Amino acid sequence: MTKSILDVVRLNKSFDVKSRKKLWAKPTRVQVLNDITFQLFEGETLSIVGESGCGKTTLGRCIVRGMSASSGEVNYYASEGERIDYLKLKGQDAKKYRKDIQMIFQDPYSSLSPRMSVYDIIAEPLIANFKLRKSEIDDKVTEIASQTGLNVSYLQRYPHAFSGGQRQRIAIARALIMQPRLIVCDEAVSALDVSIQAQIINLLKDLQEQYQITYIFISHDLSIVQNISDRVAVMHLGRIVELASTESMFSQPKHPYTEALMSAVPQPDPERKKDRIILEGEVPNPANPPSGCHFHPRCAYRTDKCVQQVPELREVGDGHFAACHYAEELNLRGVRHEEAKQA
Ligand SMILES: Nc1ncnc2c1ncn2[C@@H]1O[C@H](COP(=O)(O)OP(=O)(O)OP(=O)(O)O)[C@@H](O)[C@H]1O
Ligand SMILES: [Mg+2]
Repeated sequence: MTKSILDVVRLNKSFDVKSRKKLWAKPTRVQVLNDITFQLFEGETLSIVGESGCGKTTLGRCIVRGMSASSGEVNYYASEGERIDYLKLKGQDAKKYRKDIQMIFQDPYSSLSPRMSVYDIIAEPLIANFKLRKSEIDDKVTEIASQTGLNVSYLQRYPHAFSGGQRQRIAIARALIMQPRLIVCDEAVSALDVSIQAQIINLLKDLQEQYQITYIFISHDLSIVQNISDRVAVMHLGRIVELASTESMFSQPKHPYTEALMSAVPQPDPERKKDRIILEGEVPNPANPPSGCHFHPRCAYRTDKCVQQVPELREVGDGHFAACHYAEELNLRGVRHEEAKQA
């Protein structure tokens, strides 16, 4: 039986954005997350994909409470199995459970203080949360640093002395020292060279195996996503439009938006390159979204129903969810599993 570690229920987030040109005008409310609901299983890697601005980072931040959600629930199942209303945690309970969920970002340089030594950066959350002796902190920092592949004799140096890959290791060490059960990785390898990307991904996988860590892996690189995920969620304009196992998602996408995203995955066969679907039209404005299905203006399969009715996210196959009125009828093109893995 797969156990849930997180149940996200109808999570919404909106921002009030003021126009720079009309300062006297009332701010416009922009709905950035719209009824996001999904279950996360213990020990899995769930990737979140979707074009820039669709709300991936906002979702991650709302889950870890780096930002407050406008409404909705995040139910967290702690290691003893009890259900915790994560967004409402206060006082001692917050101290006890918030460390279980950590987040790492694309650009560790901006999230690592330039004036702190790497030792202090890694030790800081430990010191803030536990009463430990200096020798215990030393031992823990050294252990975590060597586990994440950092040279222990360089710990008194400052972040600028390290390469991008090393800095990402520092960020992972800082997250790992709290012994999290879930880590949200927001484009954690996107800024790195391909060979370094592979090293960091291997590190994340090793840590997952060793500590049964669950990952939410936010990425725009579908080749990486296909390689490392158990399941994938596709977001479009603040909504999850498809959610399925990696195999099912890539071989048989059920939403036209997913089909378009997948057609851009690099293919070793030059004949297939021609099949790339170019999405016509602009990315819709979240402040003024289209009626009905938000994807309809760019969808090759749209009908009047799509212009009028919002499709709900519903189960259209075994554990395969899609928000398209025609999910069962359309025969969409995916990528063969092996093909994309080689690319
Ligand atoms: N503090 C904020 N105030 C107003 N709008 C915001 C704020 N933060 C994010 N947004 C808007 O929310 C939407 C989603 O942003 P978000 O950063 O979550 O997207 P993303 O999917 O992570 O994009 P990317 O792939 O570029 O990282 C965007 O339209 C963005 O402009
Ligand atoms: Mg982002």
